Amino acid sequence: MKKTGNTIARVYGAILLFCCPLTAVIAADAQPVASVVQATTPSLAAGLDYERARWHPLHFKPAIDTATNEQCLSCHQEVLEPSVKTQSPAGVKSADALAWYQTLEVYTGEQETFHRRHLVTPLAQQVMDLKCNFCHQGNNPREEAPVPPTATTKEAGFTLRKMVDPEETCLRCHGRHPSELMGLPGPWEETREMMGNSCVTACHSGIRTVRHQVNFLKTEAIEKAGQDNSDTCFGCHGGRQWYRISYPYPRHAWPGMPAATPDWAKDRPTESDVRFRVSTPVATTTGSPASTEAAKSGDTKK
Ligand code: HEC
Ligand code: HEC
Ligand code: HEC
Ligand code: HEC
Repeated sequence: MKKTGNTIARVYGAILLFCCPLTAVIAADAQPVASVVQATTPSLAAGLDYERARWHPLHFKPAIDTATNEQCLSCHQEVLEPSVKTQSPAGVKSADALAWYQTLEVYTGEQETFHRRHLVTPLAQQVMDLKCNFCHQGNNPREEAPVPPTATTKEAGFTLRKMVDPEETCLRCHGRHPSELMGLPGPWEETREMMGNSCVTACHSGIRTVRHQVNFLKTEAIEKAGQDNSDTCFGCHGGRQWYRISYPYPRHAWPGMPAATPDWAKDRPTESDVRFRVSTPVATTTGSPASTEAAKSGDTKK
């Protein structure tokens, strides 16, 4: 027994001796190649097999915090390719099947895929500047359905069986219009005529005017579009409602704000999430990880 053990040890030793210089060469070789790939981004998948690509560090914290769209897309360009089928398996033509949101004035063009509607359609590009990691806070194939669900699941940015946390993403732009908080006598659909079909003329030119100071929205373009058509505002604040609740937005102090805070706003933050503030640099191709560190520790100028 002992002898066999020793033999094995000796054989391994020999293998190690033989292989080490080789691995060293591979490593020395791989290092510069990897950084070149990163810099010019033809594809981060170059030279990786499927498993290595699937477990690529960009899918995990902390690397995902500074990942750029270009980096993700170098492997996942398919998510932005037009891929809506012209007809369903049962034969219903997509051109004939209109969802209610497709009938809105602010919905333009042919039916599009989810990712394209948020990243490349004209409206998406006009009013938003979404990054992959705005929604994708990580993708761990092991944790898609943790059993049992643990307290850390939430911290890790996963919701059971979902790759993104809808409460912190979708709900921000697909919640209910909280007309009662605004003191409107009824839902917007019923009161909009009374309000001159505008969010900004009578009300939001003076109330909650410090808004959209976040790096995933195009603040000025939104205000401009909202002047012309209140459906631009309503689109993100009730018009594309997927949820029965509204997102509890931070309540920024605005000039002329009444001193008393209404009860519903008592627990609201008064500033946007640190990671979204315009003062927090977002990852660009040249972005430094240091900026994210600062963002995480809350150590940014207010
Ligand atoms: C080196 C290439 C590579 C990079 C870079 C990469 N991915 Fe992936 N990713 C993969 C592969 C391969 C899979 C497994 C795909 C499959 O099996 O369908 C995967 C899986 C995923 C999945 C789960 C897909 C599913 O259907 O389960 C998501 C979501 C995802 N990646 C998002 C991202 C995001 C966001 C980024 C950037 C932060 C990123 N990936 C960067 C290669 C990559
Ligand atoms: C507005 C939020 C949002 C943004 C921005 C976003 N995704 Fe996704 N992504 C999702 C959701 C939601 C799913 C479906 C998750 C599920 O099935 O649980 C998804 C699924 C995926 C998948 C799995 C395959 C598929 O098509 O269903 C990949 C890969 C992926 N996203 C990559 C990306 C990349 C790369 C980017 C940036 C270019 C990106 N996503 C931007 C929300 C987003
Ligand atoms: C930052 C705001 C924002 C966030 C976050 C967001 N959306 Fe959207 N969503 C929009 C806008 C704006 C449109 C309309 C885009 C257009 O018409 O080109 C849209 C359109 C849609 C549509 C209709 C597009 C179609 O062709 O089917 C669906 C479905 C949708 N979003 C689902 C989601 C889901 C699910 C999430 C979360 C993973 C999400 N959205 C997150 C702003 C957002
Ligand atoms: C693309 C989607 C989108 C559009 C279009 C949009 N909003 Fe918003 N709005 C948001 C999001 C997301 C937030 C939360 C931002 C944050 O986290 O600070 C927000 C926040 C707000 C707030 C809270 C302000 C505060 O105290 O921080 C008000 C008020 C508001 N929006 C009104 C409007 C009006 C008026 C328009 C039209 C001129 C409009 N929105 C158009 C997505 C949108």
